[in-house]
Amino acid sequence: MNMMRKKMHRGGAAGPRQLIVAISPHATVSEQFRTIRTNIMYAGVDRPMRSVLFTSDIPGAGKSTIAANMAVAYGQAGKKTLLLDADLRRPTCHYTFEAMNQSGLSAAIVNDIPIEDFVKKTEFDDLDLITSGPIPPNPSELLSSKKMAELMGSLAAQYEMIIMDSPPILSVTDAQLLSKQADGVIIVTDVENNNRDRLMEAKDLLEKADANIIGVVLNNRKVNHRTSDKYYYYQASNDG
Ligand SMILES: Nc1ncnc2c1ncn2[C@@H]1O[C@H](COP(=O)(O)OP(=O)(O)OP(=O)(O)O)[C@@H](O)[C@H]1O
Ligand SMILES: [Mg+2]
Repeated sequence: MNMMRKKMHRGGAAGPRQLIVAISPHATVSEQFRTIRTNIMYAGVDRPMRSVLFTSDIPGAGKSTIAANMAVAYGQAGKKTLLLDADLRRPTCHYTFEAMNQSGLSAAIVNDIPIEDFVKKTEFDDLDLITSGPIPPNPSELLSSKKMAELMGSLAAQYEMIIMDSPPILSVTDAQLLSKQADGVIIVTDVENNNRDRLMEAKDLLEKADANIIGVVLNNRKVNHRTSDKYYYYQASNDG
């Protein structure tokens, strides 16, 4: 099945991000997600990767789409997985999984309620979701709080893999702050909009925050097929 942009855009900004890995598990693009999963495993030879943050240089690169598909891919592999929507500015995970978002991460941080109470089951075995919760006025403050670190500690004890969605690195400081809570960070970049300087700037900011950058995902890559069909797919590459 082709990964046509038109189809992916049907949901609009507030619509769901397509879970292609669940809808078409045998599609080339789904295989690409499994390749990324394998690469993440290899990135953690010394210390297994148990939490991965997805961020991007600029907005709209496809972080949320890729994070959601990766979370499903981990669930499909039988790993107890959590998708955590840590984008407290433009959250979308609740649309993708058709979940309510009155409660979620922001509420868990500010209220003294156990994080377990905010976990939502998904239609996928082995995949749970914590949505962003209501958009707070001070996302960076919440994400760098002691409560956030504590909450991540208790989640890490319960899941084999935590996939985190986040805002773009060149827009706000959130992803830098969140990188402290993740074993590895993956930068998603839209190849059509890709700019080397921006990507390097994003990498520098993450390195300043001591993030462990494990790779870059080139999203939305256009390939000229022999039939002159245009494909959009994901490609994983290790950060050299
Ligand atoms: N490979 C792809 N092919 C076609 N459309 C895509 C692809 N990846 C993402 N999209 C679409 O592009 C739009 C932006 O994607 P997404 O919301 O995942 O990006 P984002 O990086 O999370 O954005 P934001 O910075 O706003 O959080 C969505 O409508 C999504 O469905
Ligand atoms: Mg997003």
